[in-house]
Amino acid sequence: MTSLLQISDPHFGTVQPAVMHALAQMAREQQPDVLVLSGDITQRAQVAEFSHAREFCDQLAIPHMLAIPGNHDIALFNPFERFFRPYARYLRAFGPALENTISTPLLQVVGVKTTRRWRHKNGEVSAAQIDRVVAELAQAKPGQLRIVVVHQPVHVLDAGDEHDRLRGWEPAIRAWARAGADIVMGGHIHLPYVCDLAASVAGLERRLWGVQAGTALSTRVREGIPNSVNLLRYASADALPGSCQLERWDYQAGSLQFERVKSSTLDLGSTIAS
Ligand SMILES: [Fe+2]
Ligand SMILES: [Fe+2]
Repeated sequence: MTSLLQISDPHFGTVQPAVMHALAQMAREQQPDVLVLSGDITQRAQVAEFSHAREFCDQLAIPHMLAIPGNHDIALFNPFERFFRPYARYLRAFGPALENTISTPLLQVVGVKTTRRWRHKNGEVSAAQIDRVVAELAQAKPGQLRIVVVHQPVHVLDAGDEHDRLRGWEPAIRAWARAGADIVMGGHIHLPYVCDLAASVAGLERRLWGVQAGTALSTRVREGIPNSVNLLRYASADALPGSCQLERWDYQAGSLQFERVKSSTLDLGSTIAS
């Protein structure tokens, strides 16, 4: 059994100390093997915000970490940095690379930098990035759950969020499903949900799940949507048909703790009849 903690959009600079304390406690108790940070790690890409974020992640002492930058992690307010080295501050804290893959006996996690320096809010995945992920997925070992991490959502539930959808999402999910991906994780809109992408995209060649996380620590919550994180549990692919468990943990202002509020079974790898 392995588990992966997805922390998204913490926006250091706007974090709430009580929520941070509760998340550290939850991580201590659940002991995940992998930490995924799906972007918007900081609020304004300040050096101090990145240092604070890195310190918090180190304190969680999770054996493997994969991070990608979000649009808030670009040095937006300094024209020189934005033009010449938009990710320098991010890389100092979470480098050395912008895109990484981690591999454990049961998990392959591929990070994709979907932010663009001149399209501040709109994320994009390029054809070259789609191909790179396909090549990474080809390296997955039998039995590994295959997860791609992007910042902006590949699927939205509400028309009002459509403008925040990742540009290039359709060729990306078609290619990644064909290449064997099981899950695409994202954040950005501070709204947690899970969706069966094959149900909304006709002709997808394999079951693929969209897993969105809310904001883990920030005051920038949507109305009525508390801070939350995702915890993914996966045993192995030995028992077929395979599945993994996705838990949503919400911060509860009453108990001052993160509590499991929802658990979804994600069936894996089925061939989709069109
Ligand atoms: Fe965000
Ligand atoms: Fe974002």
